[in-house]
Amino acid sequence: MKVSKLKSGQNVIIRLSELTDAEALVAFIHQVSGETDNLSFGPQEWTVAPEEQKENIKRFQEAPNQLCLIAEVDGRIVGNLTFRGGIRSRTQHVGEFGISVLKEFWGSGVGRLLLESLLEWAKQSKVIRKINLKVRSDNDSAIYLYKKLGFKEMGTLTREFLIEDTFYDCLCMGIEID
Ligand SMILES: CC(C)(COP(=O)(O)OP(=O)(O)OC[C@H]1O[C@@H](n2cnc3c(N)ncnc32)[C@H](O)[C@@H]1OP(=O)(O)O)[C@@H](O)C(=O)NCCC(=O)NCCS
Repeated sequence: MKVSKLKSGQNVIIRLSELTDAEALVAFIHQVSGETDNLSFGPQEWTVAPEEQKENIKRFQEAPNQLCLIAEVDGRIVGNLTFRGGIRSRTQHVGEFGISVLKEFWGSGVGRLLLESLLEWAKQSKVIRKINLKVRSDNDSAIYLYKKLGFKEMGTLTREFLIEDTFYDCLCMGIEID
């Protein structure tokens, strides 16, 4: 658990998710999915029940190459980052993450703090050697943030998203962990 200051001066706690977060995490994901078109699912498409989410959190806690981080301000979940490494020996060192922050906290520094914790955890894990991500190629603030933290562009996947009859490309980005 780490306490930091946001640009606003508010305290934010970055910590591992716990089983007791399940219900609030489901509500958080419902909210953010309605606040952005930059995620791979839209509002109401997240159909995970709190009990199921509890099982997901348990799996994150048990796997050495998985991570579920929560950003909390005044007892409220304002950000979440999940990372999953591969399940077989040839791919357990590499994985992809997803990150989301409540709209009212965009630009506040929550995303950077979550990513810094991911990188710190990966370096200490002795398992993770590469972190990948996919980001919509017009998601400027996310791409700016990833580059600032050392992620490099690895290529473009065309037509990766289809939202209301429009295709969107995604950039593949990654960082090697040594
Ligand atoms: C992407 C996301 C996780 C970033 O979290 P955040 O808390 O807003 O990130 P931070 O505040 O730490 O950093 C954002 C940076 O982008 C900058 N930024 C904001 N808008 C920008 C723009 N249009 N172009 C370039 N940079 C921009 C901010 O100034 C900030 O940089 P700074 O700290 O150097 O000033 C968050 O905006 C989010 O959840 N978006 C919706 C979901 C999403 O896009 N998830 C990622 C999918 S790959």
